[in-house]
Amino acid sequence: MSSQISPTSPTVPKIVVQATDLCKTFGTRGPTVTALDRVSVSFTAGQFAAIMGPSGSGKSTLLHCLAGLERPDSGSVVTAGAELTRMSADQLTMLRRDRLGFVFQSFNLIPTLTAAENITLSERIGGPRIDREWVDHLVSVLGLDQRLEYYPAEMSGGQQQRVAIARALAHRPIIVFADEPTGNLDSHTGGEVLDFLRLAVEHMGQTVIMVTHDPLAATHTHRVVFLYDGQVVDEAQNPTAQDILAHITARRMAV
Ligand SMILES: Nc1ncnc2c1ncn2[C@@H]1O[C@H](COP(=O)(O)OP(=O)(O)OP(=O)(O)O)[C@@H](O)[C@H]1O
Ligand SMILES: [Mg+2]
Repeated sequence: MSSQISPTSPTVPKIVVQATDLCKTFGTRGPTVTALDRVSVSFTAGQFAAIMGPSGSGKSTLLHCLAGLERPDSGSVVTAGAELTRMSADQLTMLRRDRLGFVFQSFNLIPTLTAAENITLSERIGGPRIDREWVDHLVSVLGLDQRLEYYPAEMSGGQQQRVAIARALAHRPIIVFADEPTGNLDSHTGGEVLDFLRLAVEHMGQTVIMVTHDPLAATHTHRVVFLYDGQVVDEAQNPTAQDILAHITARRMAV
């Protein structure tokens, strides 16, 4: 009996995000757009996962639904132990502030706050205290030391993106959701950011779910989920660039 693996054994991967039958449509004017069409997908704790698919395939919508930023029309999302579809707007705000991190495709930095103030935003709006040493480390790894007193409008797109990444990680969230986190970075800086995210996963048990168009970015991850027309159509484990290109070509996906 003692050799049996119980359901709570550490060898059983813990699911931290479980989406079931998610549907989301947009459009009150003209034809409706089906952004998510019965998506069921789960993500494991301590893994770096990527979501890939053509433009308009529903990647951002899925990430927003998984992080409680958008409500699906139907289906269920359990993230960090909470059933998001049953939570009030205030409960969702607190869950996001305290336990989740999000890097937006369009950064969403607060224009009236400096980089340093943006990075510690969750604490400024009542979230848990942020560990200064950890923030100093993030700032240094992301090369932001000389930019801390700058406002978003005074920074390049790549610098704003790195501030957004630091902000998402600053309060040590259970899960980091990142929508094209390297989309505005040159390949060298992008590679460093991805290496850092992978280290955070492997050394600190961070869970990262990242949307990307870039097959090379996806090779830093443990798993890639492919979306097409609002549906999960495929996935790959520990993918090489060739694996990813083969999946994309098989579906004729222009990502
Ligand atoms: N707020 C919205 N109002 C209307 N339609 C929307 C809205 N958000 C998304 N859509 C539509 O839903 C579909 C999926 O959009 P989504 O932004 O999730 O795609 P995506 O895969 O992230 O694309 P991209 O790679 O270009 O960022 C698209 O057809 C898009 O036009
Ligand atoms: Mg998108």
